Amino acid sequence: MNNNIIILTGDRPTGPLHLGHYAGSLRQRVALQHTHRQFVLIADLQGLTDNGSNPQKIRDNIPEVMADYLAVGIDPTLSTICLQSALTALAELTMLYMNIVTVSRVERNPTVKNEIAQKGFARSLPVGFLVYPVSQAADITAFKAGYVPVGDDQLPMIEQTNEIVHKMNSLLPAPVLNHCKAMLSDVSRLPGIDGSAKMSKSLGNTLLLSADEEAIHRAVSAMYTDPNHLKISDPGHIEGNVVFTWLDAFHPDRKKISAMKAHYQQGGLGDRACKNELEGCLQELIAPIRERRAEFIKDKGELMRLLKEGSECASMVTQETLREVKSGLGIPVF
Ligand code: TRP
Repeated sequence: MNNNIIILTGDRPTGPLHLGHYAGSLRQRVALQHTHRQFVLIADLQGLTDNGSNPQKIRDNIPEVMADYLAVGIDPTLSTICLQSALTALAELTMLYMNIVTVSRVERNPTVKNEIAQKGFARSLPVGFLVYPVSQAADITAFKAGYVPVGDDQLPMIEQTNEIVHKMNSLLPAPVLNHCKAMLSDVSRLPGIDGSAKMSKSLGNTLLLSADEEAIHRAVSAMYTDPNHLKISDPGHIEGNVVFTWLDAFHPDRKKISAMKAHYQQGGLGDRACKNELEGCLQELIAPIRERRAEFIKDKGELMRLLKEGSECASMVTQETLREVKSGLGIPVF
């Protein structure tokens, strides 16, 4: 156990989690919980930043995400799973940090910029959405996290967090906040089944961790391959071919995949055969997750109880950081 470096990751509870989450971060967390002190945050307040008029959606998805966590093997006795809104210190730190971040800086965050364009907010952009990276900096720093396992779209958040750490520490008599590093997985961005760069619910190109056999079959059948690979005997491309990207991400037999790639590039290996290989591997990967998930989701009360327990523990950690920052700034701590 490496107790010195703390890990924090989180997810917005906007829907059940999918294989993109699994490849990008969830399976890393399952490994890290054995070697590090790890906190996993269900970021419901961040989820509300673009769902302000639909709080029910966020509320309903909290136990769904919790069930996903437990089903993939995040163990609440090894990791502390907690709820953002239950940790009031995070909101208070956000208030303090907002004063040391400029409007031009938040507008420059490329991930936020993209999201704003994609969602077509224009002048109806919620203030909370624009500043969610500041709130995410509060999440990360409140736990004094050193590593943050995330997908590559989150790199700008880590950069912005470190700027806040630097600025805030310089205002305090002694540094309180930790700098952090992103921890990218080998597959930091799993493409969607249609070949889009990212899986997202709104694009309808995801495969859920709760997918049944039929849904897995349909997803693989519809999967984007090499559009110019018309006959089996034609040489095919593996770059941008989602079937091979996913085989790389999930298939346990690397040698077999290398041989398949060579065969495909040379010509003589059909898409159907490759898809069959992928489907077999996904059915095997997802079946036990789906079964465990179905059990956990039966008792939402128990899921919320576990989340409350984790939140109580996390609250103590984050309150302590808030207290240190406040007292360093000379704000009375009663
Ligand atoms: N922004 C992250 C996402 O959309 C979720 C998140 C919220 C997060 N707080 C965090 C991730 C803290 C890492 C650390 O996936």
